[in-house]
Amino acid sequence: MDGQLLRSQQWFGKKGKDGFIYRAWMKNQGIPAHELQGKPVIGICNTWSELTPCNAHFRELAESVKHGIYEAGGFPVEFPVMSLGETLIKPTAMLYRNLVSMDVEESIRANPIDGVVLLCGCDKTTPALVMGACSVNLPTIVVSGGPMLTGKYKGRDIGTSDVWRFSEDYRANKMSDEEFYVAEACMARSRGHCAVMGTASTMACMVESLGLSLAENAAIPAADSRRKVLAHLSGSRIVDMVREDLKLSDILTREAFENAINVNAAIGGSTNFIIHLLAIAGRIGIDLNIDDFNTSAQNIPLLANLQPSGKYFMEDFFYAGGLPALMKEMDGLIHRDTITVSGKSIAANYEDAECYNRDIIGTMDEPFNTVSGIVILKGNLCENGAVLKPSAATPGLMKHSGKAVVFETIEDYRSKIDDPELDVDETNVLVLKNVGPKGYPGMPEVGNMSIPKKLLDKGITDMVRISDGRMSGTGFGTVVLHVSPEAAVGGTLAIVQDGDMITLDVHAGVLHVELSDEEITKRKQLLNDAGTLTNRGYVWLYQTHVEQAHLGADLDFLRGASGSEVLRDSH
Ligand code: FES
Repeated sequence: MDGQLLRSQQWFGKKGKDGFIYRAWMKNQGIPAHELQGKPVIGICNTWSELTPCNAHFRELAESVKHGIYEAGGFPVEFPVMSLGETLIKPTAMLYRNLVSMDVEESIRANPIDGVVLLCGCDKTTPALVMGACSVNLPTIVVSGGPMLTGKYKGRDIGTSDVWRFSEDYRANKMSDEEFYVAEACMARSRGHCAVMGTASTMACMVESLGLSLAENAAIPAADSRRKVLAHLSGSRIVDMVREDLKLSDILTREAFENAINVNAAIGGSTNFIIHLLAIAGRIGIDLNIDDFNTSAQNIPLLANLQPSGKYFMEDFFYAGGLPALMKEMDGLIHRDTITVSGKSIAANYEDAECYNRDIIGTMDEPFNTVSGIVILKGNLCENGAVLKPSAATPGLMKHSGKAVVFETIEDYRSKIDDPELDVDETNVLVLKNVGPKGYPGMPEVGNMSIPKKLLDKGITDMVRISDGRMSGTGFGTVVLHVSPEAAVGGTLAIVQDGDMITLDVHAGVLHVELSDEEITKRKQLLNDAGTLTNRGYVWLYQTHVEQAHLGADLDFLRGASGSEVLRDSH
């Protein structure tokens, strides 16, 4: 960028009336003239919101970013975008991921910004911001908010995955109302996002392994002062990235995506990783498809002993050396030369890392678990794919045939699952339809359905469950997710009936319903078009344009990029 006109100078460097307007209103904030005279202008894209508790500390984090930007000779401008709090937003935050990405894309392009810092935390805020930024492709760096401190309850460590355990204990009358209530505050005892290797932590690892953040971004706890140091350093670094013209497309190469996929296998990352990485690849123009996520063939072991696949929490992971220490162990599976936001290779980010606790970060020779990653299933029940996370599943159910017990909708499931009359035993396969991208809409995290109460009372803790929905990254079980095509667009899932025999063979990568092609075709002819939930607004737009899960569930017209050029100039 040295010697070239900064993008922001198309606004602030202008003469006459236009320049007057661009500068004058900035000056009402008490900004001295010299800040607008050729310094790189850095947008801080902030998802702060008190309705997104995981990101509620982001105004403070933004201040640290600003200190770094000023220090390096840049000028920071903080701007809000829609935020997505996983816990409060209804019907599901995923419905709005693409909307936020549009907000981010248009906010960046429309304003006098030379480089961007993305402040992300709660699950969807990371992919939404990265997707939007990719469609503009300016120099961009990610600062994650960091995980919560480990929860403490009755002398033991807890995190978000315990919500599912507590909930089952509560349903089975093993936990009282009072204990359930007290556990809430014990779990969420500090700022930050979920403390396990759920989707938020997976996303933080994703950006670090893609090269979009400085080293150690993934695991520094939100409450640790080093999180602010990282924000400060990121602020300084983005100014230099603008000067070097180091853009997202320089970093997000096919090799960078492959690095992220391999790292995700070794950390036991969330299944949501697939859907978000596919969407990001679609924005930056990298040819990635769902089969690229089938890491089982590469025998990547699970190195991180972190919940929900293991025992520990993100705070422990940081103390053990964090993602750099883990990536160092899998050096042979990393494209070492991919460039990162630091301007150096990804290998430079981890070469000097040390592991301080082998119980938390295993080695390739002595991993935490030889089973890792994500298996992509294919078969007549999911022609375009479905996903399963073996490390979160029960080994004895990885090859299983059972008769389907079908729930047509989420409401149908809720009304029946605890009904003592429900005709179900532990050999059955639970099938939930119409929770896909279009069908719900927004593909909620309901795929890890509760075990029917009468089986729970018998001590059953896992069953094969299949749906076109997603699962929380903190969830676990032998759960087949993201079935594509989904029921609402006439996928085979739509025609499954109670009693149909379903076979899951994880090792062979097969999901099959024992029906003839003729029977499937006959049943499909009787299907009605599901239509849309409403005939106006964003939900209509979403249902009309959302792509299937195996493509990343982006809106079809958002694929690709429009760059940073403003097409019309009204002043
Ligand atoms: Fe925000 Fe889990 S609820 S990361």
